[in-house]
Amino acid sequence: MYATINGARLAYAERGIGRGIRRGTRHSTNLLLIHGFPLNRHMWDAQLAGLAGVARVVAPDLRGSGDSQTTPGPYSMDQFADDLAALLDHLDIERTIVAGLSMGGYIAFAFWRRYASRVQALALLDTRAEPDSPQARTGRDASADYVQREGSEALARQMLPRLLAPVNFANTTLAGRALAIMAVQPVAGIVGDLQAMRDRPDSRPALAKISVPTLVITGEADQLTPPADGQALAEAIPGARMVMIRRAGHLSPLENPRAVNRALRAFVEQVRGT
Ligand code: MLT
Repeated sequence: MYATINGARLAYAERGIGRGIRRGTRHSTNLLLIHGFPLNRHMWDAQLAGLAGVARVVAPDLRGSGDSQTTPGPYSMDQFADDLAALLDHLDIERTIVAGLSMGGYIAFAFWRRYASRVQALALLDTRAEPDSPQARTGRDASADYVQREGSEALARQMLPRLLAPVNFANTTLAGRALAIMAVQPVAGIVGDLQAMRDRPDSRPALAKISVPTLVITGEADQLTPPADGQALAEAIPGARMVMIRRAGHLSPLENPRAVNRALRAFVEQVRGT
């Protein structure tokens, strides 16, 4: 499905109960899934299928990703958050559980800062609150140069070994699926995302103020945001807890969808009961 949001045509998938239920109806639980970089909504296909029984699940392609329009960059986490809020308006969703993976987590923090009253709960997957270090910022610019020179598939091939657990990188079906999602990302969108990540603010000051149920999910073999980082993130957020996903790296929802769905399903049910 498509909607024109803040001047950009955005694609999104929507599944599950509660569709068509109007704002304010008590029994509709919503789950917004925000993809990572350089990915699109298809990284959540198993969650869209597996969680449709417990929530109305919405997974958009961010501007510059997947089937959404690529507007000129640079983008920002705040702009992505504003797009998501406007998409929720379009769908008549007032409050939602917000789940974001990695860059999607950076956006979830921005969404919390700007639209806290619309956040029923947070699920933070394979992500971090820290901003980029000076070295990481330089790396973003180098990646932007590289992708403009060599293309999306080359960048995807370069990144893939660090995104997947070694056991999953060796699985040609799974690695091929991740590569296929990343290889079709528009170059200009990738560059816009890199600039947004490079310039993103420090979300650590917000952590102690998070007052909604929060679940941190981390792949046991995540090389970019290892379990110790996930544990530290959970400890910094009042009442948060962490679930570690076996046989998964940075792309846990793709790598071990059953375990991630189990964790998210239990979380949705817990949030619904509160
Ligand atoms: C992601 O998965 O979204 C990226 O690895 C995030 C990042 O590069 O900081």
